[in-house]
Amino acid sequence: MGKPTQEDAPVTESIVAKLLAMKSDVAWFREELSRFARTPAGRVIPDNFLNALQHLDPGSVDLIVTSPPYLNNYHYVRNTRPQLFWLGFVRKPSELKHLENQNFGKYWQTVRDLERVPLDFEHPGLEKLLARIREIGIERGSYGGAGWANYAASYFNDTNRFCRVTSQVLKPQGRAVVVVGNSILQGVEIPIDNILAELALRHNLLTENIHIIRKKRVGASIVSSSVRQGARTTASLYESAVILRRA
Ligand SMILES: C[S@@+](CC[C@H](N)C(=O)[O-])C[C@H]1O[C@@H](n2cnc3c(N)ncnc32)[C@H](O)[C@@H]1O
Repeated sequence: MGKPTQEDAPVTESIVAKLLAMKSDVAWFREELSRFARTPAGRVIPDNFLNALQHLDPGSVDLIVTSPPYLNNYHYVRNTRPQLFWLGFVRKPSELKHLENQNFGKYWQTVRDLERVPLDFEHPGLEKLLARIREIGIERGSYGGAGWANYAASYFNDTNRFCRVTSQVLKPQGRAVVVVGNSILQGVEIPIDNILAELALRHNLLTENIHIIRKKRVGASIVSSSVRQGARTTASLYESAVILRRA
């Protein structure tokens, strides 16, 4: 929005430059691995993280590094994974449905019309925040606060499940580095990192640190687009790495 259409962008060059950078990263990584006395083995588990215990023993993981989807209504697969189509993993958009349904935090489109989505756990502070969002733009129906409050409640229900599973798979003293972004819904700022730290503690995960890794200035088009518009806010968006340690 607000940007001129670019009629003739050098798409091929951009993609080829990225692919070459990825190729050189892979070559570097392989070279580093070959220096180990015992070559580490890798395994890709194509499943929902919340099913981790179907694949891994409890208390078996030293380190988790992850960046789960943010509370920003971003359709990762559709917006950032064209290679799924190019490489033949997916042939038509309907084949993405299972990824959409399993997506951490859900999509706004799939929860906005539901009856009020409750939190699966008690948290008076978060309830207050959700109540504030719910009251904004009532006249817009599920496009107003009610839909966004459902979206946020679904997100935190998944955050709570994520903390439970993380705690179950980590070894005692094992660490999880979780990169998250704060969020502004209907003009209400939601400090995702602090809420994650609070929920983690309920699952025996202590917060060792919260590093702010990026402060982004975001134009009004993202913070208060027509669907997200609420009160004006001076809050800005940032990303942080939350370091959790299993007690
Ligand atoms: C913020 S992106 C992180 C991207 C990653 N750092 C990368 O460079 O590919 C969030 C990713 O989590 C994935 N995801 C969403 N729900 C998931 C789930 N339940 N289990 C595992 N991955 C999930 C999304 O498909 C998306 O690729």
